[in-house]
Amino acid sequence: MSALFSPFELKGLTLRNRFVRSATFEGAAEADGEVTKLEVQMYRDLAAGEVGLIISGVCGVEEKGLLFPSQNNLASDDRIPGMARLAQAVHDEGGKVAVQLFHAGREASSFFPGVGLAPSSLEDDPHFDHNHRAMTEEEIWEAVESFGKAAGRAQEAGFDAVQMHGAHAYIFAQFLSPHTNRRQDQWGGSVENRTRLHREVLASIRKRVGSDYPVCIKLGTEDGFQGGLTLEEGLEAAMLLAEAGYDCLEISQGLRGVRFHETEFRRNLKKPESQGYFRTWAEAVKQRVSVPVIAVGGIRDLDMAEDIVQKGQADLVAVSRPLISEPGLIARWRKGERQPARCVSCNQCIHEIEAMRTISCALDRKKEDWSEDEAG
Ligand SMILES: Cc1cc2nc3c(=O)[nH]c(=O)nc-3n(C[C@H](O)[C@H](O)[C@H](O)COP(=O)(O)O)c2cc1C
Repeated sequence: MSALFSPFELKGLTLRNRFVRSATFEGAAEADGEVTKLEVQMYRDLAAGEVGLIISGVCGVEEKGLLFPSQNNLASDDRIPGMARLAQAVHDEGGKVAVQLFHAGREASSFFPGVGLAPSSLEDDPHFDHNHRAMTEEEIWEAVESFGKAAGRAQEAGFDAVQMHGAHAYIFAQFLSPHTNRRQDQWGGSVENRTRLHREVLASIRKRVGSDYPVCIKLGTEDGFQGGLTLEEGLEAAMLLAEAGYDCLEISQGLRGVRFHETEFRRNLKKPESQGYFRTWAEAVKQRVSVPVIAVGGIRDLDMAEDIVQKGQADLVAVSRPLISEPGLIARWRKGERQPARCVSCNQCIHEIEAMRTISCALDRKKEDWSEDEAG
């Protein structure tokens, strides 16, 4: 049987296979972010579908870092029982689950009225025109503390690991990118300074969860536009974070460009050469670090997943959109049905969350209910 279906050890955590559900915001929480029965069912279905490691959707660490009003969070102790129900549902089905800890940074003002907290205030940014302002030193340390406390709560709720959301335009990607981080203090300038937030957060988490608990990061190693983070800088960041003690790196994109093909949500993936679109970045990271690396982005068939692991480009492979369409995809592949994922990467699932609805797959809806697609 394929190596993908044998167990994998991640810092003492035994995963039943090498498949990861990449973090996916489901838009299924209560209006105030509390966990719902529907979410519990979604996690149960993914675990029953034999995903090795499920990574939750974005889970806020503090109120001012939320992206959506209806977003799960671990910003206070009263959220622990709800989140514990998610973890329990996964464990009941023999799976493992990590919570993705998240702060939107300046993007917090995209869906909420208000001012997002950013590394720097940019007046001439063609990519982002929402209200934001530069964080004070004190606010940065507050965020560091919030991540630490939220990780402690995740552990208490029974999650097997935590993953920082260090990709896709949110706070860590904003600090890492020279486009959004123009600071002149210890948080800006060199790649070492631009990853200080990542490393201080890790230290704050370790104080709460101890040295044996897996602390991971999804890292954007290149921005989607000229003038942003280069791959060379992204690789330097990956090495610094592995050396600092992050236990696993999932490799994706940093700040987004404007159209879908400049984001982590690429489309038109029919040709094999357009699939697995960040695998060479994962490979470049894998060559430089000794901790496990996860490849993500447009992986749609078992042959490609096997090829990635066999070639040593990554240790684990992650999928997001295919599991929205088919939560049982991994079990289907394990049973020997090798047809590619049913997902056609149409991105209608993304339009659903932008419209503040619960994710669903467009292939299960009537065509006339599909959203207009302008983003290309
Ligand atoms: C509906 C939707 C929600 C997502 N939510 C998150 C999220 O909460 N955190 C995250 O890191 N990535 C999120 N992503 C990005 C995915 O994890 C993944 O990186 C990206 O979709 C590429 O993988 P895929 O081609 O397998 O979908 C989301 C993707 C989709 C489609």
